[in-house]
Amino acid sequence: MKRVLSGIQPSGQLHVGNFAGAIRQFVEMQRDHEMYVFVASYHALTSTRDPRKLSENIRQVVIDYIAFGLDPAPGKVNIYLQHDVPEVTELCWLLSCVCPKHMMDKATSFKDKVSKGLQASIGLYVYPILQAADILSVDPDLVPVGSDQVQHVEITRDLAMKFNHYFGETFKVPAHKLREEAGTLPGVDGQKMSKSYGNTIDPFMAEKPLRKRIMSIVTDSTPVEDPKDPTQCTVFQIFRGLAGANDPRTAELEQRYRAGGMGYGDAKKALFELILEEFGSARRKRVELMNDPGYIETVLRHGAAAARAKAREVTDRARKACGL
Ligand code: ADP
Ligand code: TRP
Repeated sequence: MKRVLSGIQPSGQLHVGNFAGAIRQFVEMQRDHEMYVFVASYHALTSTRDPRKLSENIRQVVIDYIAFGLDPAPGKVNIYLQHDVPEVTELCWLLSCVCPKHMMDKATSFKDKVSKGLQASIGLYVYPILQAADILSVDPDLVPVGSDQVQHVEITRDLAMKFNHYFGETFKVPAHKLREEAGTLPGVDGQKMSKSYGNTIDPFMAEKPLRKRIMSIVTDSTPVEDPKDPTQCTVFQIFRGLAGANDPRTAELEQRYRAGGMGYGDAKKALFELILEEFGSARRKRVELMNDPGYIETVLRHGAAAARAKAREVTDRARKACGL
């Protein structure tokens, strides 16, 4: 059975883009893969200075993972917090020492984040090395991510190969896995939907504010009666990302755009209904989980024990390889 690892930063409430780009893959893969899915809490420290908010976001991501359909039963998905596996920071150091500085200079996410106003800390600069440590710590075969994370998995592969080159075969070299049809979902303003841009759609919102949020999606001023190009419309792009490009509901909506006579308000209504339908069971499950903190604790304890055992084995192997 192939082993899979992935994670998400607890930098804010998860959104439908995170689900379409990343979490849906985790849920699909859990059937026939050994799974490690974690909350990247150390990574979030590169952008957060609010301890209360950070710990609340961490708890929320765990609840959302399970609500979205990850099964944390023993032998299924190991869900854990990054900071419960301190071996990762040890591995991060070992990898830092084989990482040429130019590799970090080339990473695009640092520049992007600094241009958006994040402090250019050393932590933010070496963020990809910590991500490599997360990944390599459990010897995974596959890393399912959205397209914006592919560069980080490439860096991970380079670092693993460099370490292996200097010190002999130590790390397994993993591959990324994209869910091709998902693409990147735009947010309500038409930019990439992102926790840090305030443009997300949160599938767990109460119905009324959710409807309002969807109605606020920016569209152009094509009159109702005119045919419209769905590929240029944010509402359609989100719909297609969630329902799937080959789904009959997508084909039907596409046809309505092209035919003319449908206003954007109707398209938004279709998206609102799709979200309620797709996330109905997740919404109910989340309410149950919010009321059961003891269960969440147990899930995290078991997940951390499994991840730590594996990470210790890998870290010891790496220490020995480099002469420690
Ligand atoms: P955010 O930009 O909201 O902070 P993250 O960088 O934490 O999201 O990404 C978590 C996962 O969700 C990654 O695998 C990423 O590729 C995926 N993802 C994030 N935003 C989107 C989006 N708008 N569309 C598709 N996938 C996304
Ligand atoms: N950088 C990822 C994000 O922003 C989160 C992350 C940290 C991650 N470590 C990882 C993803 C390891 C996959 C594997 O979403």
